[in-house]
Amino acid sequence: MTGRVAGKVALVTGAAMGLGAETARRLAREGAAVMLTDLADAEADAVLREIRTEGGRADYRHQDVSLESDWETVIAATREAFGALHILVNNAGVAGGPLPLMTHSLEDWRRILSVNLDGVFLGMRHAGALIAESGGGSVINLSSILGKVGLPEAAAYCASKGGVLMLTKAAALEWAPLGIRVNSVHPGFIDTPMVANSVTLGPDGNEKRSLLVAAHALGRFGVPREIADAILFLASDESSFMTGAEMVVDGGYTAH
Ligand SMILES: NC(=O)c1ccc[n+]([C@@H]2O[C@H](COP(=O)([O-])OP(=O)(O)OC[C@H]3O[C@@H](n4cnc5c(N)ncnc54)[C@H](O)[C@@H]3O)[C@@H](O)[C@H]2O)c1
Repeated sequence: MTGRVAGKVALVTGAAMGLGAETARRLAREGAAVMLTDLADAEADAVLREIRTEGGRADYRHQDVSLESDWETVIAATREAFGALHILVNNAGVAGGPLPLMTHSLEDWRRILSVNLDGVFLGMRHAGALIAESGGGSVINLSSILGKVGLPEAAAYCASKGGVLMLTKAAALEWAPLGIRVNSVHPGFIDTPMVANSVTLGPDGNEKRSLLVAAHALGRFGVPREIADAILFLASDESSFMTGAEMVVDGGYTAH
């Protein structure tokens, strides 16, 4: 078996589209067996077929990352299908659209926090024992540039992603003795369904997009492959001395 993560087992949440789908494909091409999970069964099934057609080992389970019972099922299914777990990519997330603070409902706040932050906590909480049992591994938590700098009308999203950053560091310290590395990834704006749905829709969509593009020093949004490459590096032994780190992949958005 060859590849940068050959012989490893990975679990990728939110793998039906966007960054999660590209990460699942990338890890499978580099030799990992991949458990994909998502809410969107049809889209995930298409990614699963693609991976299998290319000769990759993969499986899929329906999962809401904010539900503890779904995590129990998914970890049991991963153990049954592949017998181990070395790489956990806590990728599933929601943006929520523009939500001005003064009219932001508590319901919206809780919905965003439950997927973006509770989901990452539950993922580590339930996958940790299997990763430790498998001899250690690498956890990659998807934060954002918006876990490091603010954006108006995105209070819940920013709070959730800032939470992921610090949750990652605490876990990294706690799990270093177990051989489990934990790092966060902070993408700039990347062309995925999330960005298409939250940034470019609406009457001023193009104007908003142009302003956001200009905030990236490289003068463009990223593409999913550029984040999947960073995740692959953190998943592989090439990053063996990295834990508790913030990997910023943002075309220079946070450089100023
Ligand atoms: N695209 C960007 O510009 C960008 C930038 C920074 C961070 N991120 C983060 O990267 C991750 C992936 O983003 P994306 O752009 O690919 O998003 P996306 O919306 O394109 O895809 C997200 C996937 O997660 C799934 N999902 C949503 N809620 C879920 C739940 N409760 N349980 C399980 N699956 C669920 C969706 O069905 C979808 O397949 C998210 O955590 C996001 O916050 C994205």
